[in-house]
Amino acid sequence: MSKSASNSEFIEIVPVADVPYLGARVVQTQAGSIAIFKVQDEQIFAVLDECPHKKGPLSQGIVHGKVVTCPLHAWNIDLENGQACAPDQGCVKTFTTHIENDKVYFVRAEIMSYA
Ligand code: FES
Repeated sequence: MSKSASNSEFIEIVPVADVPYLGARVVQTQAGSIAIFKVQDEQIFAVLDECPHKKGPLSQGIVHGKVVTCPLHAWNIDLENGQACAPDQGCVKTFTTHIENDKVYFVRAEIMSYA
């Protein structure tokens, strides 16, 4: 099966340029509020915008490396896998991103299954 973004397998979300460098852009989806992060090497990650500790807005945290520090109680969350960094424990839902033609896409089935 083709992985082209024109396939309905994907949902077009935002232009990559609209995601701030070392920051996040929040989008509302059927799966809830999802924070799209652009990290140091321009990689894009997407996680539910709720810290696994007490649901702090991760999109307002500080990005360093591939980690975001929650603005509420400073837990560090690995954006690649959603895991809280030790000694904290917990995990935020991550979402697959697909980049094509300088746009960020989500996988439709993944969003629908979490809705
Ligand atoms: S809500 Fe994120 S560290 Fe407490």
